[in-house]
Amino acid sequence: MKTWANVNALYQIYPRSFKDSNGDGIGDLRGIIDYLDHVRSKHHSLGIDAVWISPFYTSPMVDMGYDVSNYTDVDPIFGTLADFKELVQKAHNRGIKVVIDYVPNHTSSEHPWFKQAIGDPKSPKRDYYIWRKPAPNGAAPNNWVSLFGGSAWEFDPLSGEYYLHSFFKQQPDLNWENPAVREEMKNVLRFWLDLGVDGFRMDAVNHMAKDLEWRDEPLREGGVEGTYDGHVRKYSKYGPQLVPYLRELGEVIEEYPDRIMFFESIVDGSIGPIAEQYRMLYDVNPRIGVPFNFGGMWLPWGAKSYGDYIREFQGMLKPGEIAGYCFSNHDQPRIASRFGKEQARIIAMLLLTLPGIPTVYYGDEIGMENVPVDPSQRTDMSAQSGVFGGRDPFRTPMQWDSSKNAGFSTHEPWLPVAKNYKRANVANERRHDGSFLTLYRHLLAIRNHDETMKRGDYRELLIDETKNVLVYERTYESSTYIVALNFSNKQRHVTLPYDAHHVILTTNPVKQPKTHTHGRITLRPYEGAIIFV
Ligand code: NOJ
Repeated sequence: MKTWANVNALYQIYPRSFKDSNGDGIGDLRGIIDYLDHVRSKHHSLGIDAVWISPFYTSPMVDMGYDVSNYTDVDPIFGTLADFKELVQKAHNRGIKVVIDYVPNHTSSEHPWFKQAIGDPKSPKRDYYIWRKPAPNGAAPNNWVSLFGGSAWEFDPLSGEYYLHSFFKQQPDLNWENPAVREEMKNVLRFWLDLGVDGFRMDAVNHMAKDLEWRDEPLREGGVEGTYDGHVRKYSKYGPQLVPYLRELGEVIEEYPDRIMFFESIVDGSIGPIAEQYRMLYDVNPRIGVPFNFGGMWLPWGAKSYGDYIREFQGMLKPGEIAGYCFSNHDQPRIASRFGKEQARIIAMLLLTLPGIPTVYYGDEIGMENVPVDPSQRTDMSAQSGVFGGRDPFRTPMQWDSSKNAGFSTHEPWLPVAKNYKRANVANERRHDGSFLTLYRHLLAIRNHDETMKRGDYRELLIDETKNVLVYERTYESSTYIVALNFSNKQRHVTLPYDAHHVILTTNPVKQPKTHTHGRITLRPYEGAIIFV
């Protein structure tokens, strides 16, 4: 199996929506086992070396599993611990590494720790969570706002105190100041490491440490009090203890060879330069700690915005540090819906020709779009908060084939299947040269061919703001590729800095003869090309 330094990409599987094996309309671990071939096998697979499986732990599912009530067991809707062990073994047999979610900031309010803590204020578990007395007027202790709307404090009538929840009130924040909490949570890591997992995607880590004086968040200019975006969120997250907490976790993970931790840490421009926040996260443990680079999720379309963003990020990295580009996930609108289908092909080429370990969100490889979900069918409660506007449309069932329910389940799925599934599905796209899936497979084949895309240098060759074209070079030892991306809806002639030869891949599904470029290439509207030098 490859080491993390050689892994080509991470494939995010949302277990509820990947494949249902037992006909209850909800995806499960057995479904993942049965469809591992799609990820990496000898024929027709994506050819990806690692998967990240979103939460499958015991949970009341208020936040679709990010509200964990037992960190060391599998929720029955997803299967059993024995299924998980089999999954790890079968993935490893195929050379696929397994990354799982780790949710350190909060538990479910149904977790036994919280039940004891709220049921008996004298319980030893009370201090596992964050309790504060009301403000003198009886209101919440400070003005912190939950990401999902409303105050981040919930009143507990039994004790007359408030507890903190950075997300839903059913997700009380753990008190990481308490060494007992840190020990418990380190044991959770050990439990899964002992089962052979290769790494963790660490949820919402920036929230783990808070301001220890519990100060009010300042209001932004023109910001509305009580709204999440109205405040400079400098005290409710990124507290002074964050790096030490993460280092402690990193030490446990490093007890096991070749493991990794991907930090989910939404960098926040309201509190200071983003590059500094990434730097801080890399400095936690540059050997094994990789922050997801989320900047690409919110960029406006355009060669300049992407080009500037990549230059700034690459410029901040130190030698040997792994970039973790991530342009979509279960919290964000689908790329094809954000920008359009042709544009999504450009983003695919960009993502898979950048250094490090890029993340591919399940379904993006077949061009999945947001699927409208009727309010009566909604499951994501964040829809009510207005912050995310509901994430169901980006979490719909994987489209495997043109049979009923897109081959996802024999039962009506928990969320609707995309209307266009008869065309946009894995089986169909495997057969077509111009499909999204074929493009992804070719991009990954180039990424696998040698080390250039993974570990080579990134050098910007051209950002033409007027023509909306971005060109960069990737080099490793004697191998060089040029990537030229036309973000505009017009044909563009691009002069390369030297005499480059073979166009080895273009994003345009219409076949065209491979061109010898000899220093000049013509890109059709929204076309990207990889040129081997
Ligand atoms: C980030 C996860 O990606 C999101 O789905 C979840 O709601 C929050 N963290 C809270 O755990």
